[in-house]
Amino acid sequence: MTAAALSAFRCLGCSAEHDLSRALTECPACGSLLEVFSDIQAFGLSGEAWRDLFDRRRTALPEASARAFEASGVWRYRELVLPDLPEDEIVSKPEGATRLYAPTELGKVLDIPRLRVKHEGENPTLSFKDRGMTAGVSWARHLGFRDVACASTGDTSAALAPYAAEVPEMRAIVLVPDAKITGEQLSQALQYGATTLGLDTDFDGCMRIVTELVAVRPIALLNSKNPVRIEGQKTIGLEAIHDLGWEVPDWFVVPVGNAGNLSAIGKGLHEGLELGVIEKRPRLLGVQAEAADPFYRSWVGGFSTRVTLEAAPTAASAIRIGAPVSHPKAEREIRRFDGAVGRVSEAELLDAFALANRHGLAICPNSAVALAGAAKARKQGLIRRDDLVVVVATAHALKFSGAALAYHASGARLANPPRRVAATLEAVLEALEPARPARARP
Ligand code: F0G
Repeated sequence: MTAAALSAFRCLGCSAEHDLSRALTECPACGSLLEVFSDIQAFGLSGEAWRDLFDRRRTALPEASARAFEASGVWRYRELVLPDLPEDEIVSKPEGATRLYAPTELGKVLDIPRLRVKHEGENPTLSFKDRGMTAGVSWARHLGFRDVACASTGDTSAALAPYAAEVPEMRAIVLVPDAKITGEQLSQALQYGATTLGLDTDFDGCMRIVTELVAVRPIALLNSKNPVRIEGQKTIGLEAIHDLGWEVPDWFVVPVGNAGNLSAIGKGLHEGLELGVIEKRPRLLGVQAEAADPFYRSWVGGFSTRVTLEAAPTAASAIRIGAPVSHPKAEREIRRFDGAVGRVSEAELLDAFALANRHGLAICPNSAVALAGAAKARKQGLIRRDDLVVVVATAHALKFSGAALAYHASGARLANPPRRVAATLEAVLEALEPARPARARP
């Protein structure tokens, strides 16, 4: 890297700075987490000038597919993401630029009339991971890595595989807990040619081993422990605010597993405030499933201890994590944004999953953890009735069809089981009894 580099790693523990060309994921001096610090002030733009620039990019059409990144909701904010990355090295599908839904009926049911859902499941690999992966894979390519690796509960691997597949000679190596990720997620890794290793352990075990692996081989680690990935991921909050015409919501509600996403969203919002791009401080609500709630437990204890545990099975399988790697960063963001951490039961998350789906929103069980958490926080009065609330839906329902089919076969409150009927008109009519007259037209 040249002396003119705008970005460097900064250690969360000892504040030491390190060159971004070193592909570090922890501080060589003290072992703490690192984050990317970029001198964005060097651009000398006011908050208003930044907003104008981003507005223009949002409406501009990409010139050609070779510049796919111009249609990306990550690279729209590229000075804030990786200002030192040459544009011709960007691997983009393009990602981000996801929809922000205003589900009116669902909002009424949950008594959150100003509910919005940022549907990150509408990314190219059907999860929010694409935002981090476009940054991580592009940077790994820039540094000349041929091998990239991750541990995953299914979505990181599903994103790493196709991004790596676009780079000549790049190999994706993914370590997943055997039989603990969904078939859809597994098939994504396989289809895009990743070397896929199912380990007889849980996510935390895979994370431990992949960390050991990259210490002995020249492999770039592309979990969210890699601070470069966080840089791409941090655009979620900023883009949601951009979607709202720069109105800042009262709350962002996020499901928490490894705690990378909560950290990333907080970092993006913090920088947006520093630059004057956003002018109000939203609050953050992180939510976990009861089966995997170490961050919640740490929060309940005032963060006096960092709880880790063995996570139990949950329909929110992507957040079945007992030792969140990004805990220190997420803790800082919860403090910065006057945040809170919630926890929901299996019944609560499954009902929220079914309820959102029933209202036409194809969100996954992990996203439903956040939705259920928002509903609970509303009941408790933490979220007020007139608050503008953005729930971050992290993946698409279709990656978790097993959970949906199991729910609808279960006799649960909102179950909608399929019925077998004879192949005759009479049988179909009988199944539709009583007949419903059309509504009279006004
Ligand atoms: N939602 C989904 C759909 C996820 O896949 C994940 C994490 C999360 C939420 C939680 O985000 O870990 O940053 O707190 N999935 C990772 C993976 C762990 O390997 O795919 P987090």
